[in-house]
Amino acid sequence: MQNRPVARIHLDAIQANLELARQFAPRSRSMAVVKADAYGHGAVEVSRLLGDVDALAVARVEEGMSLRAAGITSPIVVLEGFIDNEELEALRIDRLTPVLHSRYQVDLLKASNHVDIPVWVKVDTGMHRLGFSVEEFRAGMTQGESLNVIGVMSHLANADDPGHRENLDQIDVFMEMTHDLDVALSIANSGAIINYPSSHLDWIRPGIMLYGCAPGAQPDDRLKAAMTLTAPVVSVNRITVGESIGYGSTWVAAKDTRVAVIGIGYADGYPRELPEGTPVLVGGQRRGVVGRISMDLTFVELDAGDQVEPGDTVILWGRGLPIEEIASLHGTIGYTLMSGLTGRVGREFCRG
Ligand SMILES: Cc1ncc(COP(=O)(O)O)c(C=O)c1O
Repeated sequence: MQNRPVARIHLDAIQANLELARQFAPRSRSMAVVKADAYGHGAVEVSRLLGDVDALAVARVEEGMSLRAAGITSPIVVLEGFIDNEELEALRIDRLTPVLHSRYQVDLLKASNHVDIPVWVKVDTGMHRLGFSVEEFRAGMTQGESLNVIGVMSHLANADDPGHRENLDQIDVFMEMTHDLDVALSIANSGAIINYPSSHLDWIRPGIMLYGCAPGAQPDDRLKAAMTLTAPVVSVNRITVGESIGYGSTWVAAKDTRVAVIGIGYADGYPRELPEGTPVLVGGQRRGVVGRISMDLTFVELDAGDQVEPGDTVILWGRGLPIEEIASLHGTIGYTLMSGLTGRVGREFCRG
């Protein structure tokens, strides 16, 4: 037993979640989004697991190169494309497919000897993050420029909010921009896959749903949590009424009690700002965090009957404790918690 937090990664859950995405969009191909180390789940292992997926997507060239170095042979799309000639060359050597979103990338590509490499083009339908504007696109920025465009994609700004009217507006703009093109089309991330069948088109791009987390604030029973974050109990302390614990002495015992000190802290990615009472599972029962979360350690108040010893394992989120619930206590989303785990957290891959 090592004293370190561990994220258990449930590989079967990831497969089941991809299957669910495919059931939502049976006529679409799937680009599984494994950027940011597969949202903290381990990009190499997840990519290996999803060996039969139509394509993988990463954000950056370096992420694609790491997957190739690990022996991943699936098609890999690089969502931010390349930033200079060096990256363009690296893409070409590793057979990564860039997404072009800006004029400078078209110019770099045309100035190279590689105008034949397959590319996706990104268009901006309202998010104003990356992508050619409607006007640039209509002016034939990439069409007729003898590039090998295999697809056009866009991204929704509000797919996590099914009621948001901007979603349908963006889909309409996308359809209008692309209706006369003979290339693959893609606009659906997880929220759109689940909520907007009209967005499915030729390719879906599931990210967060693969990892069993809902795109919105509420957990979705159809998804299976793919990460269970655990930490060991490293000490069990008796605290007398009136005594305080931790930095800032913020929590004072209202009665004689026991507190478990568990081996996880903000340097592992368990946010310091989580409020008192944030639930954890001790022996399957919900107990609350007390005092300040420190760099390596966190306090949990025990109930009188709890049988807890050093070496026991506590669950911070995952099976039995939805990450969406912890995220909303922190005023954030599951994406940030998963992808924010640091290298100190072990990863253990399991089936079931
Ligand atoms: C361009 C693009 N497509 C797809 C995704 C996947 O989104 P989600 O994780 O919400 O499914 C992302 C994630 O941010 C993205 O940036």
